[in-house]
Amino acid sequence: MLLCSASVSLHFDLLMCVLLCTQEELLVGAPRVLVTGATGLLGRAVCREFHSAGWTVIGTGYRRARPRLLRCDLTDEDAVRGLLHEYKPDVIVHCAAERRPDVMERHTEAAVNLNVHATSTLAKEAATCGALFLYISTDYVFDGRNPPYGEDDSPNPLNVYGRSKLEGERETLRHCPGAVVLRVPVLFGEVESVTESVVTSLYLKVQEASEESCTLDHVLQRFPTDARDVAAVCRKLSERARQDPSIRGIFHFSGKEQMTKYEMAVAIAQAFNLPSSHLIPLTEQPAASALRPINSQLNCSRLELLNLSVEPRPFTSAIIDCLWPFTPDKRWRQTVFH
Ligand SMILES: NC(=O)c1ccc[n+]([C@@H]2O[C@H](COP(=O)([O-])OP(=O)(O)OC[C@H]3O[C@@H](n4cnc5c(N)ncnc54)[C@H](OP(=O)(O)O)[C@@H]3O)[C@@H](O)[C@H]2O)c1
Repeated sequence: MLLCSASVSLHFDLLMCVLLCTQEELLVGAPRVLVTGATGLLGRAVCREFHSAGWTVIGTGYRRARPRLLRCDLTDEDAVRGLLHEYKPDVIVHCAAERRPDVMERHTEAAVNLNVHATSTLAKEAATCGALFLYISTDYVFDGRNPPYGEDDSPNPLNVYGRSKLEGERETLRHCPGAVVLRVPVLFGEVESVTESVVTSLYLKVQEASEESCTLDHVLQRFPTDARDVAAVCRKLSERARQDPSIRGIFHFSGKEQMTKYEMAVAIAQAFNLPSSHLIPLTEQPAASALRPINSQLNCSRLELLNLSVEPRPFTSAIIDCLWPFTPDKRWRQTVFH
């Protein structure tokens, strides 16, 4: 039943995708990428990146699937098979996941179904149809006690989320040995609402200046990374790996600036010329339902050796870019930049 309805919309959207292609792409047969989680923070950036580089992009979403995106429940194996047989992508970038650690602790079964079982199905199907499979993973596979972490260092996730993503990595490489796993740390980017990423949501804390003081974690060390940079890595790494089958296995990519949430909030305040004196650093471990690594810094040297020319954007300019649509007076940007 699900396969049936997915299939109807697949035909419609295939037509849309073809209509979106340029004449030139049709003539030379532009390579095709299937992006799962295309309605999410990273998936949207990945779709844009591949599209602007001339790829034919097929994006899937689930609850937020909109026109031009396919709605597909990736936990439905038949729907996934139907999707891949219909579109025959050259590359699959698998961004869909439950990535909120506290939600994972409460809804473990559903989240494991997506993070592990759906990944397993996609990896098997990718191997069958000969597509390059790129699985997005996380620094939360490490316990954070002995950073920085290289690709070959032993993972030891502290929470259900980290364990499920590690399991997803293992399923990926077991079923699809030519696959690429890309581990990234906390992301921000062009958000639909400020609360979509933990990094951009700090803007709300910054804006509380006229109210009471606001405590922010100053223990957990993070490396906020712009989803647009990750998207560029996904595209360039896919293009390289299609030409060179020795490019496979685990890679790390990360922003370079180490910051606690408190430091990110202060940087956001400074970037927008807002007060930060109400922000109070909290030097005790924050109470959250899921344990988090103290410092899971990723050593990215394996990726750097490929010379993909993706330099992580500096935090301040990137966060201004992402938050300015949410500023009360967008003329602020014109004043600063023009
Ligand atoms: N965000 C971070 O800070 C961060 C850090 C490290 C690693 N990562 C990894 O990066 C990847 C992308 O994360 P993100 O932040 O872009 O996630 P996100 O914004 O939460 O998006 C999750 C995506 O998964 C889709 N999805 C959820 N349930 C689904 C289902 N049953 N079937 C099909 N699709 C389903 C959602 O679709 P709908 O919304 O349409 O339902 C959405 O597109 C994930 O693998 C995550 O583990 C993220």
